[in-house]
Amino acid sequence: MLWTIFLLLSGLLLLVVLFSTRKNEPPLDKGVLPWLGHALEFGKDAAKFLARMKDKHGDIFTVCVAGHYVTVLLDPNSYDAVLNDVTSLDFKHIRSQLLQRIFSLVLPSIKPEAERKLMERHFQGLSLSKLNNTMNTHLQWLLLSDQRGCDATEWREDGLFSFCYSLVFRAGYLTLFEGKDNAATVYTEFRKFDDLLAKLARRSINRENKVASSSREQLWELLSPSWLSGGSGPSSWQRNYCHLLQEEGVDAEMQKRALLLQLWTTQCNAGPAAFWLLGFLLTHPEAMEAVKSEIRDLTLQDISLQTPVFDSVLSETLRLTAAVMINREVVQGKILHMANGQEYHLRQGDRVCLFPFLSPQMDPEIHQDPQIFKYDRFLNEDMTVKDTFYKNEKRLKWYTMPWGAGKNMCVGKEFAVATIKQFVFLVLTHLDLVMCDPEAKLPPVNPSRYGFGMLQPDGDMQIRYRLKRTQHEM
Ligand code: HEM
Repeated sequence: MLWTIFLLLSGLLLLVVLFSTRKNEPPLDKGVLPWLGHALEFGKDAAKFLARMKDKHGDIFTVCVAGHYVTVLLDPNSYDAVLNDVTSLDFKHIRSQLLQRIFSLVLPSIKPEAERKLMERHFQGLSLSKLNNTMNTHLQWLLLSDQRGCDATEWREDGLFSFCYSLVFRAGYLTLFEGKDNAATVYTEFRKFDDLLAKLARRSINRENKVASSSREQLWELLSPSWLSGGSGPSSWQRNYCHLLQEEGVDAEMQKRALLLQLWTTQCNAGPAAFWLLGFLLTHPEAMEAVKSEIRDLTLQDISLQTPVFDSVLSETLRLTAAVMINREVVQGKILHMANGQEYHLRQGDRVCLFPFLSPQMDPEIHQDPQIFKYDRFLNEDMTVKDTFYKNEKRLKWYTMPWGAGKNMCVGKEFAVATIKQFVFLVLTHLDLVMCDPEAKLPPVNPSRYGFGMLQPDGDMQIRYRLKRTQHEM
């Protein structure tokens, strides 16, 4: 009897050992808290936490975060092994979880491929120049109408972040959405919601839950076009998107909610990017001078032409402030082949995460002095784009990744670049813009926003501005 119990227990122990050790798998760091693992440190400042783990374990490791085992891969030469695998790795489940948490949105049957095609049709190719023209008109109109009623010589004061975000958001909203009279109200409400976004995604929202729900509901109403309840209207991106949802069997309520997701996707990055870019220019006079001399003789129509200095400034800005996380779920066990020849087994049910902000973007092996803003980092001496960067002596395909990669790569990249260019051009040619404190530095980033696209500042930088007496006097 004793022997039977002993044998049973030994067998059980063997099974436990067999199934709990991770053979040929990336180094595992569970953290000290059961189930939670590293969730708190991750949520507080993911970049700092992952940099610590990278120092400890190298370019690949698995961490436990709120009940999930997440394998973090930080070697850009090996990213394609994850990005190109659509059989063992899936993003749909993680995406729908996030949509539910953040937007109270359930889209069970929607096919991401069809949605993407529709976005491409509206934001790229032939549609792009029309979109750029409309955006341009709105940016110009808003910039000038915001000054109306003021003495032209009078300086106005604002935070640079509010100034940029508010203008770019409202112009983008007027360009892509159908509500024409409520842009300012939508912006104010959206900022409340956007401030709570990271907490909603991590389910760490308690006290502010009511604020988030009420803000979300208000935005649903503000965005809801009359035709959703049966009215008619001209064909537009928004209308075609809802039509696609309808064909997939999504009801009117969920269609309404989906518009908030699209508002966030299309409007939450360009404004903050414009802020960082102008902020870097204001705090780096040599960069400001280089951009000004490039655009001095251009008209707004010309800026769609080549502007290598501006392009390098934008790439450098995004390298320092764009922080997407690319997450996948392992739906069937997989061997990951790393560029250095090592192989790791990824377990079914675990997650894989790429965090390009740490590498390539802030990797000292790839970009010298990665913390420093160098406006000509992406510029060769002959003024062509510098795109040769190396890690471990291997030329990199992915040397900066602000737009994401693979199947979810940003559909609005060209539109976003044109928008930021137009905005910066308009500001520099129409306004005298200075920092209130000439010695001021850019505010630090809000560390809770790593993983959600463009970073936002913790605080703001005060600026003074007024209309120029004559345009192009830079
Ligand atoms: C500086 C500005 C922008 C940055 C840095 C940026 C970045 C990104 C990134 C990283 C993704 C992928 C997200 C993921 O993997 O989950 C993405 C997706 C997307 N972006 Fe942008 N974006 C910007 C502006 C815009 C604008 C102005 C539009 C509007 C047309 C836009 C439309 C989209 C859409 C529709 C997707 C979803 C693509 C898909 O799921 O297939 N983006 N963006």
